[in-house]
Amino acid sequence: MEAKTVSQSQVEIAQVMMPEHANPTGNVHGGNLLKLVDQAGAIVAARHTHSNVVTASVDRFDFISPAYIGNLVFIKASMNYVSKTSMEIGVRVEAECLKTGTHTHIGSAYLTFVALDKDDKPTEVPGLIPETESEKRRFEEAKKRREIRIQRTKPHRHSHRQQACIIRPEKIN
Ligand SMILES: CC(C)(COP(=O)(O)OP(=O)(O)OC[C@H]1O[C@@H](n2cnc3c(N)ncnc32)[C@H](O)[C@@H]1OP(=O)(O)O)[C@@H](O)C(=O)NCCC(=O)NCCS
Repeated sequence: MEAKTVSQSQVEIAQVMMPEHANPTGNVHGGNLLKLVDQAGAIVAARHTHSNVVTASVDRFDFISPAYIGNLVFIKASMNYVSKTSMEIGVRVEAECLKTGTHTHIGSAYLTFVALDKDDKPTEVPGLIPETESEKRRFEEAKKRREIRIQRTKPHRHSHRQQACIIRPEKIN
């Protein structure tokens, strides 16, 4: 499998916030922004691996500023780090006020995606080539976060294997 650069998979989604994205006073619902964050992360993971990818974890997301109806929301996502079957993707959310052009940082998160094979088993992913200084810094920082995550998730890892009722609908007899 050929290693890939960060720029080969990074993505930027832009979407104008409409009334259906917000509460009655015009604040965009956090859940709508988180859905876009997950989608952008999944696109990066799929572009890097060309596999089926699932979200394994989302590190905390603090909403540091609100977004409103009419704002143009940008979701910027790029690959920080890859290990054997998992990948850390960094996602940054910004909102642009279309009347003034000002950009506001809404929040950022680190997501871990895992690539799955046709039997839904974790499968190896291509390596990552960090090129720029900031890509190299993110790579090293993500490597440390992965170690912390592994320790944090240890107690409940593999507990899903007992949940035999979780089965793809088409596989139910
Ligand atoms: C993510 C999932 C595939 C991991 O399966 P698993 O049998 O625990 O796999 P493994 O223990 O072999 O771990 C596979 C990789 O995932 C990583 N991983 C597993 N759980 C993780 C977690 N909670 N956070 C971060 N990484 C995780 C492991 O570190 C490992 O990475 P590596 O191969 O790069 O070292 C499995 O837990 C799953 O299917 N979860 C549901 C995913 C999903 O449906 N997401 C959408 C929301 S419903």
